[in-house]
Amino acid sequence: MVNYKVTTTVFGERPDFKEPRKILQELGRDGFAGMMDRFYDIVVESDIANFFPQDKDMLDKVKKHNTKFFIEACGGEKEYTNEMGNVDMVAMHKPFSIPEKARVEWLGCMKELLEELSVSDEAKQEFWDYCEIFSRHLVNKPTDLESHMKPTDHR
Ligand code: HEM
Repeated sequence: MVNYKVTTTVFGERPDFKEPRKILQELGRDGFAGMMDRFYDIVVESDIANFFPQDKDMLDKVKKHNTKFFIEACGGEKEYTNEMGNVDMVAMHKPFSIPEKARVEWLGCMKELLEELSVSDEAKQEFWDYCEIFSRHLVNKPTDLESHMKPTDHR
């Protein structure tokens, strides 16, 4: 059984995460790339579709970059760094103004993807835990309540 838990982001925090290994080992590079293709099919049908390019060629580019990044994060070749250099994911996501709600929807897409994927539960769990925690770094739009707090209240 995979535990698809979703913890709550504390705005501005950077929790530790562990990079997964099993999912890429089990799927192989091509299988993994196929999985990322499918992820974007799910994303474009979701409530966060508006965050992503509507143009097919531009979306393909995002897909390609994401595939390379995740392959690297999962213990594969340094495909993303070789092409893009050291990109700070927090800074890269800043222009997109991502609230917690969008993160939860993004994770919902990931859950749907993993549920239909034929890999071991251990591989799914490891990958889920990485996505669940790393995505907390990328939330960059405070909730209404947080945005009404004084900066000194963020502790
Ligand atoms: C584990 C979590 C995540 C990882 C590792 C991740 C990684 C990435 C990567 C590697 C890219 C492509 C960067 C490039 O072009 O060089 C990207 C783009 C993007 N991500 Fe994420 N992401 C994550 C979560 C999210 C979440 C939760 C959202 C919420 C909506 C999001 C929204 C976007 C958007 C809007 C783009 C860019 C689309 C464009 O270029 O127009 N990401 N992400």
